[in-house]
This record gives sequence, structure tokens and C-alpha cells, in this order.
Amino acid sequence: MNQETIQTATTRKKRVFSGIQPTGVFTLGNYVGAVRNWPRLQDEYDCIYSVVDQHAITVRQDPAALRRQTRETAALLLASGIDPKKSIVFVQSHVPAHAQLSWVLGCFCPFGDLTRMHQFKEKSAKHPEDINGGLLTYPILMAADILLYQTDLVPIGIDQKQHLELARNIAQRFNGVYSPTFTMPDGYIPQVGAKVMSLQEPEKKMSKSDSNENAVVRMLDTPDAILRKFKRAVTDSEGCVRAAQDKPGITNLMSIYGVMTGKSFADIEHEFDGRGYGEFKQAVAEAVIETLRPIQEEYARLLADKAYLDSVLTEGAVRADALARRTLSKVYKKVGFLQL
Ligand code: TYM
Repeated sequence: MNQETIQTATTRKKRVFSGIQPTGVFTLGNYVGAVRNWPRLQDEYDCIYSVVDQHAITVRQDPAALRRQTRETAALLLASGIDPKKSIVFVQSHVPAHAQLSWVLGCFCPFGDLTRMHQFKEKSAKHPEDINGGLLTYPILMAADILLYQTDLVPIGIDQKQHLELARNIAQRFNGVYSPTFTMPDGYIPQVGAKVMSLQEPEKKMSKSDSNENAVVRMLDTPDAILRKFKRAVTDSEGCVRAAQDKPGITNLMSIYGVMTGKSFADIEHEFDGRGYGEFKQAVAEAVIETLRPIQEEYARLLADKAYLDSVLTEGAVRADALARRTLSKVYKKVGFLQL
């Protein structure tokens, strides 16, 4: 063995973990902010990607729909370029260690840290009839997801940054009380597109659960629907394609276009200098349609092969489970659970 082979045989690649909820077809926001980066990390890192169904039930779900959407979300992740030969892809509820570690970590998380989470405040305002314990303790489960795998890097959109910080705080507290147990995870948040905004209310995040379909572009939208949604996107009356704080609609479209084409804001301003919003919106829609086309085709192919999808998820669960158990067993020993 030469020096280089010895090196690769002995050093573990850094680890990536991320998750997405199976609460319907995911949006262009999910893709641009997070999922788009997942396949890009698979050569350099050991990547683990999860469809987090346990997180989804913090809001009431129809059981049959949740089951279907879980498989569909997995198919859409694979269609987006995640290769199950390189990365582990699995469903959260298939690996019991997530819920098990979550309980322990909950005992290392001050109540006040949970009540100040932006997402808890937003979701409890949106669902006042069902402010359940899961909604409050959700970030602890997310911390368990991340810490179980000794994760180095977490590719997410900006809305999950506060949850990641909570995971780091929990890890630090646990490591301090016992001895180093958890790797400290860092966020991997894109420079552009970390928060894709609603097409109808560009001060608000584009959200899967928005009741106004015109506000959201979904990964499986037809080209006609995509074009229509971008044409109706709320902008401003200036008529000039330039990024500015007081032009959230146009700035959002420029971010989307920039991510789709690799062009900078300066390039885009130059390209559309003297041209109207109509032409710009058409160009943004076309760039999105062309990016989504191969993903949609691959998705249709994958979804027709349920046996293959299920075999990927089965193998993913077995591999994730083996890794997760190692951390859980360390944690159980440290806190003093009797091992027989
Ligand atoms: P979820 O399912 O809401 O979203 C999945 C990913 O998409 C990102 N995202 C966005 N990025 C840019 N613009 C938007 N409009 C937008 N909307 C969503 C999110 O930041 C996220 O990265 N709690 C997580 C799932 C999760 C998780 C984890 C993530 C559970 N455990 C462990 C990382 C690590 C969530 O609800 O994501």
C-alpha cells in the first residue's frame, strides 16, 4: 500500500446529515436552499439523508397520505441526484435510535430554549387548536438526528439555523457534563437561495403549506403552471431588474435565476438592463422549467418502481441503524443506564 492508500483507509471522511419532511411535494425553496446541495456533497463526504416522518406528525397528517408522501419524497430526493450507492437514504421512523436519543437530549435542553424557537412561535400561532408537546420538543428530535451520526456538516436553508444552534448547545452541554461524546456540527447554508421567498408575499418564506398555490413552485409542477406562477409573481412598480432591500419580489426572482443559471446579481442586472419584468419573469420560469425537467422525468421512472425504492429505503435503514446504535450505546453508558 502506498502512502495515499493508507491515508484513505484510515481517515474517515467527514459526515453530512440532513432531513426533509414528507409533508407534500417539496418546493423550489426546499430544493434551492437545501436539497440541491445534497448530491454535490456526496463525493467529498459520507452523506446521510433522511425523510423525517416523525417530525411531520407535529402537525396532524392523514395517515395514508403520509405513507404515500414518504415514498414520494424519497423518490424525489433520488431524482434530484442523490445516489444510494454513495449516500445513505432512509426514513426516520425506521431507525428507533432517533426517538431514543431524543428523550435523553431533552433532559439536557432548558425549557426556555424551546419556547424561544421562531418556528415554534410561528407554528403555534398558525395551529392554536393543536399546540402539542411535539411541536415544542421538535428541535430536540432534530438535534438527535444530527448528533446520532457524529455529523460534521448540515446542509440546510436559513430557517433551520436556529435549530442547528440549539443542537450545538445541547451537544456542548452533554459533552461538558460527561466527556466528549458528540461531534460539533456546522451548518452548510448557501450564499444565494438560503431563503427563497413566497411569489405572492415576498417578505414571507416560500412554504410547502402555503394555502395560496400561486405563492409556491413545487418540484412536480407542470411547465405551464411554473410559467403562470412566475408571471403572476408580485414585484414592484419600478420596472428595473436590480436587487435591493425595498424590492423583495425582484430580488427573490434574481436569487432563483442566479441559482438556476450560475449568474451573479451583477450579471443578471446587466443581462436585463432596459428590459421589462415580463421578459425577466419568462426567463426565470424557463430556467426553472429546464432545471426541473430531468428531475421530474427521473421521478416518474423511479416512482413506477416501488420495489426498487423500498429496497433503497430498507438498505438505508439498516446502514443508518448500525451507525446510530453506536452513538446511542455510548450515550446510554455515559448517563448510567444499566447494560445487561
Ligand atoms: P423542511 O422539511 O421544512 O425543509 C427541508 C429543507 O429545506 C429548507 N427550506 C428552504 N430553503 C430555502 N428557502 C425556503 N423557502 C425553504 N424552505 C425550506 C430547510 O431549511 C431545510 O433545510 N426540521 C427540518 C428537517 C430536519 C432536519 C433534521 C434538517 C429534521 N431533522 C436534521 C437537518 C438536519 C425541516 O423541517 O425541514
